[in-house]
Amino acid sequence: MKKRNILAPSILAADFLNLGEEIRRIEAGGAEYVHYDVMDGSFVPAISFGMPILSQLRKATDLTLDVHLMIVRPERYIEEFASLGADIITVHYEACEDPVKAIKMIHDNGKKAGMAIKPATSVDEVKALLPSLDMILAMTVEPGFGGQSVLPECLNKVSQLREYVEDKSIECDIEVDGGIRTDNIAEIIAYGANVIVAGSAVFRGNAAENTKELMRIMGR
Ligand code: DX5
Ligand code: ZN
Repeated sequence: MKKRNILAPSILAADFLNLGEEIRRIEAGGAEYVHYDVMDGSFVPAISFGMPILSQLRKATDLTLDVHLMIVRPERYIEEFASLGADIITVHYEACEDPVKAIKMIHDNGKKAGMAIKPATSVDEVKALLPSLDMILAMTVEPGFGGQSVLPECLNKVSQLREYVEDKSIECDIEVDGGIRTDNIAEIIAYGANVIVAGSAVFRGNAAENTKELMRIMGR
């Protein structure tokens, strides 16, 4: 059964000097998740933020912290991100030494496990992992930067994933990340995604109003 649609505002696009207020705004808009993009300058070209901000964020909100690790060999840091208060830890299939072991480590730390795939990684490569995952993240842009446009070739992967999990009755959320805005969110949900990351579409302008509007289009 298709799960509830959830919006996950990505704070990569937030005003970091007023992060607490930005969080209050998305809470006021009704958001349930905060998407937290960790970039290491190696798996992706950019470096974003890491542990200290996450631990402060954990103290500032009860929203679900959806941590997206764009880092090489994420296994090295799963325990630490778990202890800092991540609720969902998503690692990249392409970056893991051993994806099965990474999922087990996340679960052993009492957290929900997500696996992300880049645009060039096929659904076939991760099918066998889906029964052990809480969430699969199909990137809709090349990871590394906010404010890009959806790569249309990624959308078929979303529908392949949806078909597969429905067919096999697998309880796994399907998340999409990158380039999602008010003018394409309905289409992306129609392809089968149910957890929607949005950075610039939320934080450019009034984050509370933008959250409400995106959630309205999502049927929430
Ligand atoms: C990109 C990040 C995204 C980013 C999305 O590598 O994983 O989460 O913040 O930003 P927008 O919604 O602006 O494309
Ligand atoms: Zn992300």
